Amino acid sequence: MSDESTSMNADERITVRNLLHGEGSPFELAEDARSGLASTPKTLPPKYLYDASGSDLFERITEQPEYYQTLTELEILRRIAPLIVDRVRPTALVEFGSGSASKTRVLLDEMRRAGRLEGYGMLDVSESASRAAAAALIQAYPRLEVECVIADFEQPQPLPFPGKRRLLAFLGSTIGNFEVEGAQAFLRGPAERMHDDDAFLIGFDLVKDIAVLERAYNDAAGVTEAFNKNLLSVLNRELGADFNPGGFDHLAFYNEAEARIEMHLVANRPQHVTVIDLDMIVEFAAGESLRTELSHKYTRRSVEALLEAGGLALDLWETDPNGKFALGLARRR
Ligand code: SAH
Ligand code: AVI
Repeated sequence: MSDESTSMNADERITVRNLLHGEGSPFELAEDARSGLASTPKTLPPKYLYDASGSDLFERITEQPEYYQTLTELEILRRIAPLIVDRVRPTALVEFGSGSASKTRVLLDEMRRAGRLEGYGMLDVSESASRAAAAALIQAYPRLEVECVIADFEQPQPLPFPGKRRLLAFLGSTIGNFEVEGAQAFLRGPAERMHDDDAFLIGFDLVKDIAVLERAYNDAAGVTEAFNKNLLSVLNRELGADFNPGGFDHLAFYNEAEARIEMHLVANRPQHVTVIDLDMIVEFAAGESLRTELSHKYTRRSVEALLEAGGLALDLWETDPNGKFALGLARRR
């Protein structure tokens, strides 16, 4: 019997739950902007970079020659997917920060080849990216059931497909975008909800030559700059602010002491910005910055320490031949 003949009505195979603005959700731009713009230094959490335009710009970043992460992770995934599926024997894949879910297909393909593919759960703040990805996936995998959770993964969520054996995934080194304590706290959520035979596959961008790291966040085509500045459009649109994008410069550099790239928007002249919805005027001195993202870089040792603090232990560690990126398979401790 062909897949097509047994496929259900496409829409019936996608469930979408939007928990973003539910009670207790930490996805509150107004509150985060009120405190972040009043603090010294000024900061905003990176999750607000991903409106529809930001999600599209991120996809374009992954195509830039300087941004080695995506292709390198894809290459490792292609090599180890059979091993992972054979070792975990999952029937459902549950992914955090799934975005366009393009790399995810390597895992889904391998699960299908093993005759075990039943469900895919995706959790992301970006509704536009998630809906587009889900629609494409049910076309490509005619028996797949897709559960789309639009939510902030900073808040622990029940994991989809509790009755199935699950492979959890957090690709792209998005874990690096948390503060160190935030990454530990995040991991404890899935660690407490996983069953003993579930496993968690996590992508880590590795410490390397500083020039290579800094080039990845300062691509020649200016896509990362546009991604960063898009945050000002989000603030203007969502909070009635009047940021002038021309008044800010993109800055991304490696902070060696903290092993992280920091992305900032730096005021190139003194200015004051009105944020109508917050009833707030924000003053920027020339050279003052708004920090928009951290992107931590790892070693095997720092990953082991992070996993341990998160209630997990490393079961498998695979890198590319040049040691640029790693995938770690973790289990509950
Ligand atoms: N996994 C993809 C996308 C990485 S980009 C890849 O490896 O290429 C980071 C993704 O995480 C985006 O899709 C963004 O919308 C999502 N994201 C960022 N912060 C989030 C948060 N706090 N909660 C849920 N999703 C988040
Ligand atoms: C999603 N995340 C891991 C990316 C990163 O590299 O930190 C986001 C990004 N920011 C700038 N370029 C890409």
